[in-house]
Amino acid sequence: MTKPRVFITRLILESGLKLVQEFCDAEIWPGELPPTRDELLRRVPGINGLLCLLTDQIDAIVIEAAGPGLKVISNCAVGVDNVEIPAATARGIPVGNTPGVLTEATADMAFALLLAASRRVVEGVNLVHSGGWKTWSLDTLLGADMGGATLGLIGFGRIGRAVARRATGFGMRIIFTDPHPASPEPGVVAEQVDFFALLQQSDFVSLHTPLTDETRCLMNSSAFERMKPTAVLVNTSRGSVVDQSALYHALKSHRIFAAALDVTDPEPLPMDSPLLRLENCIIVPHIASASRLTRQKMSRMAAENLIAGLKGIPLPNCVNPEVYSR
Ligand code: GLV
Repeated sequence: MTKPRVFITRLILESGLKLVQEFCDAEIWPGELPPTRDELLRRVPGINGLLCLLTDQIDAIVIEAAGPGLKVISNCAVGVDNVEIPAATARGIPVGNTPGVLTEATADMAFALLLAASRRVVEGVNLVHSGGWKTWSLDTLLGADMGGATLGLIGFGRIGRAVARRATGFGMRIIFTDPHPASPEPGVVAEQVDFFALLQQSDFVSLHTPLTDETRCLMNSSAFERMKPTAVLVNTSRGSVVDQSALYHALKSHRIFAAALDVTDPEPLPMDSPLLRLENCIIVPHIASASRLTRQKMSRMAAENLIAGLKGIPLPNCVNPEVYSR
């Protein structure tokens, strides 16, 4: 029996790769960098399945180029803003993602960034390495206190709630906004407030919202104006949720104390980005889910979604389940 043809836009980890190779005739993009748009358009015609990463823009043109045999798009990420979901849905193509398995790793990174920015860890490392550390003193690199501080979570889904659990252990007060609020986990107290109240009251603001038309540039100059001058912003969601030029001005003018970003727009950030010149801005290269186990689980989940779609059975994790009720 001939195996279904799939294109995989980058090497995935072993747990997923084995499954895909058993079941599919897979072409795997060999590059360290994503395929260019031209390469992508050259490789998709005639495929039955596409397994892609968040670095690939899968829009109506790519879906169209794949042709009528395309049965499934499996994105190896929880966020699916890189896939034009309505275009897939219009063609009856289910789109898979990888929720749940990366919740704890991402919440860990949000907290790591929160601590690093508030306690000026990177500035401290730089001070030591540059030979600027002369003695112990009472006012070297003073940072923000965690205990009793208010943490504002924008987005209270799986990851936001996992961050709230961590914050509870640090003795923080937790407030949140979310259009579809869920209850906090057992043992966690968190209060829903409106967006402006959250900005005004929070000592730490952490973003856990998907990128949508509503959340694009949600953190803009008017949002920064409402924040405390001592506040710290953490972003492990998507870069475009923050207006980066507004953030630069807020940090440069000390309108807010610090920011720590796992995500930027674009990625990677160009080396001449002014954000890279700020001492009060920490930036890491979109690694919030990058723990060994998590990335294996994501690879496997993406493979399982792909294979289910090729078999014509519902994807274990599908972002457009309406395709099944047509
Ligand atoms: C990572 O950013 C993801 O969406 O999985």
